[in-house]
Amino acid sequence: MARAFTIAIDGPAAAGKGTLSKAVAAHFGFAHLDTGLLYRAVGAKLLLGMDAVMAARTLTTDDLQAEDLRSPEVAQAASKVAVIADVRSALLDFQRSFARRAGGAVLDGRDIGTVICPNAEAKLFVTASAEVRADRRFAELAASGSAISRAQVLADVKERDARDRDRAEAPLKPAADAILIDTSDMDIDTAVAEAIAAIEARLAD
Ligand code: C5P
Repeated sequence: MARAFTIAIDGPAAAGKGTLSKAVAAHFGFAHLDTGLLYRAVGAKLLLGMDAVMAARTLTTDDLQAEDLRSPEVAQAASKVAVIADVRSALLDFQRSFARRAGGAVLDGRDIGTVICPNAEAKLFVTASAEVRADRRFAELAASGSAISRAQVLADVKERDARDRDRAEAPLKPAADAILIDTSDMDIDTAVAEAIAAIEARLAD
């Protein structure tokens, strides 16, 4: 596809957005941007002692390859820098131009359908209960050798959800025209099939 077509995928921590977004992007042959990585890269720099706004203004694509961006400590730091309006505005243009690239784009995050791409051609809001999300994240972390407990993962997920939902700037919430997908009782193949069917309906319009 030569024209721009933006798919916005939002939802809370560990809802399956990443896996779903990659599968949707591969299906349609679109580029994919995990916008959480931008905030994680800024959070990682904060942990190294850098000013968060300066880190966001000077972020490069190399910073997105940094080690340990997936750690629970970096996730918490990401959600702390994400409440800062100047951090969010420093990351805005990059996300918007990615979204309008020729050939189609999938962006996943918290505010893609509401703030970054309010005119996205298709919007999904992917969610699941906090317990299910914590179980999935715990399994991932345990497989990668982390010693974190399931109770700590659940507490982290809930803390991050509350900070993301209650912030003044671009809070986590579904766009009015988003299609809701609750993956609590769904395997990933079913979630992907549901997402693709919903997007195909929009593409046909
Ligand atoms: O999606 P992920 O869990 O990697 O995001 C890490 C943190 O970055 C989130 O908890 C949230 O605070 C922030 N974030 C955001 N807006 C986005 C993507 C992520 O505020 N579009």
